[in-house]
Amino acid sequence: MGKILLTGGMGFIGSHTAVELLEGGYDVLIVDDLSNSEASVLDRVETITGKRPGFVQADVADAGKMEKIFSENAIDAVIHFAGFKAVGESVAKPLEYYRNNLDSTLTLLETMKKHDCRTIIFSSSATVYGDNSPAPFAEDAPTGNCTNPYGWTKYMIEQILKGLSLAAPKMFIGILRYFNPIGAHPSGLIGEKPNGIPNNLLPYVTQTAAGIREKLSIFGNDYPTKDGTGVRDFIHVVDLAKGHVATLKYAEKGACGVEIFNLGTGVGYSVLDIVNTFERVNGVKVPHVFAPRRPGDIAECYSNPTRANTILGWKTAKTLDDMCRDAWNWQQKGSRA
Ligand code: WQD
Repeated sequence: MGKILLTGGMGFIGSHTAVELLEGGYDVLIVDDLSNSEASVLDRVETITGKRPGFVQADVADAGKMEKIFSENAIDAVIHFAGFKAVGESVAKPLEYYRNNLDSTLTLLETMKKHDCRTIIFSSSATVYGDNSPAPFAEDAPTGNCTNPYGWTKYMIEQILKGLSLAAPKMFIGILRYFNPIGAHPSGLIGEKPNGIPNNLLPYVTQTAAGIREKLSIFGNDYPTKDGTGVRDFIHVVDLAKGHVATLKYAEKGACGVEIFNLGTGVGYSVLDIVNTFERVNGVKVPHVFAPRRPGDIAECYSNPTRANTILGWKTAKTLDDMCRDAWNWQQKGSRA
């Protein structure tokens, strides 16, 4: 057990991982600039776990502040969540996305090197698989051909980490390719809180059910899928968070080098499956219409999670019903406070 630094630890996935780490007996220190999160997350994580994580408000690209964090704390490992993550915004602001996501990662890695911190787990994305080959995607499927600057930053950071590993072979570098994280902590205290009009499906569904949005547009009903709507590998954020703890435990056993793991369920559900399941488990209506395909979307994206299942001994446990129930619980309780 040691002290784990979570960059972007106040965000959706970071805060859930903080909970799982604290419950697993780890010390957690969060660095976050609160550009897309709220300070109240600290209280909420404390309410859930009975423990308060350490917190420094800073931009990870600020070398002086990162140096201070590493000189004042014995950091055993870093989980690097911080980054801009809105696909559409990245198309409109490519320079901001490349500057922010790459700069912060380089500053973090330089500071880790200086302090001989040898374990990093990075939040990558299934988006790196692009449309090079059909689903399911295993880790050795071709990557690249990303459809937006956000995806390219994930791809580029993966290359940076692979290059670093050749020069620093004793490091453990875990690259976790997330599929579609949804749901929320069952307490309803932490969850996803997008700024403005949501781009992702689940926040749009919950806000439509709550009457904040008039209706959901389903982008495309003419895909070559079982019902014509897009298919994705939706994963409960608590299962995803546990995948980080499993990766950390694997690193603690002495693993080194780059290890890439898909974090997904291995099962694809369609947009209509989501709408129907959400309505059924929550007893609410999600008014929806069919709309044209969204540029950059692929028909099907789901994982082959065998590598994480066998090497990490990690497997998802939550169902689509759990995901839809917990997302609605969060929308009604926590997201309004
Ligand atoms: C899922 C499905 C849409 C909204 C993106 C990024 C990925 C990751 C998660 C973020 C698709 C459909 C959506 C709506 C709809 N990154 N949809 N109506 O595109 O699979 O993945 O978000 O941090 O890297 O690429 O997720 O939730 O946007 O879409 O019909 O209003 O829902 O067309 O089929 P996506 P999503």
